[in-house]
Amino acid sequence: MTHRSDGARPAYAFDNANAHAGGQHDSLARLLDPGTFQRLEQTAITDGWECLEIGAGGGSVAVWLAERVAPTGRVLATDIQPQLIPDVPGLTVARHDVTTDPLLDDAFDLIHARLVLSHLPERHQVLRKLLAALKPGGVIQIDEIDTTHWPILTAATPQDAKAYHAYLLGLVGVLRAAGADPSWGPQVAAALTDAGFTDVDPQCHSEVWGPDSAGAALLLSNSRHLEPALLAHGLTESDLEAARAAIVHPVFRAVSFTVHTVQARRPA
Ligand SMILES: C[S@@+](CC[C@H](N)C(=O)[O-])C[C@H]1O[C@@H](n2cnc3c(N)ncnc32)[C@H](O)[C@@H]1O
Repeated sequence: MTHRSDGARPAYAFDNANAHAGGQHDSLARLLDPGTFQRLEQTAITDGWECLEIGAGGGSVAVWLAERVAPTGRVLATDIQPQLIPDVPGLTVARHDVTTDPLLDDAFDLIHARLVLSHLPERHQVLRKLLAALKPGGVIQIDEIDTTHWPILTAATPQDAKAYHAYLLGLVGVLRAAGADPSWGPQVAAALTDAGFTDVDPQCHSEVWGPDSAGAALLLSNSRHLEPALLAHGLTESDLEAARAAIVHPVFRAVSFTVHTVQARRPA
């Protein structure tokens, strides 16, 4: 699970080599791609644009970008573990750590990162690096979440509701212990302003998840992907089984995390 250990910072919590990484990225794509694409459309992205997709994960956004900028544009998709990013025309895939590896200055018309910077303690320095990597007038879109309010609404039993909440607390605890801030979403707009971006334009969205939702699938996948860390954090196997049973029950309904999507520009 550890991808870098320089002794100075915790390692990223998830692992693209884990058996559950495919499920994680499929769920993220199902859950978030429609909103991400709708917002990216508003940038007027078109043939010829040079784009950077940071922490591309399963690559669904990178592939969409490559289709939008074809035939003459290019997309660079980066990740510390890029093995799940598909090989498609117009897309260059690079193993790249955005906290330590260099990026070309004045190189991109559009930079996008979803659920990446919240995992990085260095997120503010990274934003300044991304500002320099954009062409003057170029657009950035950062998609992040807020997990401060995502209560269960209906459960089969009070014990199911309790198990669900215990799991969410454990999940947030494990992510925080790995240096992430899973509630960074509401701070993104201010962070972009502080980093020197202009025209900062935040939007946010939440919904209700049922047992067949992509959100439920993501929570189930994460409960297995992060199981060793969740157990080390104090949850038991029976706590996790109870939470999974609550999520797949037909009456399960819960408020989603809030998704924050913020666009901004490098000053021209
Ligand atoms: C939660 S996943 C999100 C994947 C994708 N952006 C999405 O929203 O579907 C975070 C991704 O960021 C990558 N990542 C983590 N730390 C990184 C770093 N320092 N530089 C680049 N990518 C990183 C991970 O390997 C993982 O693929």
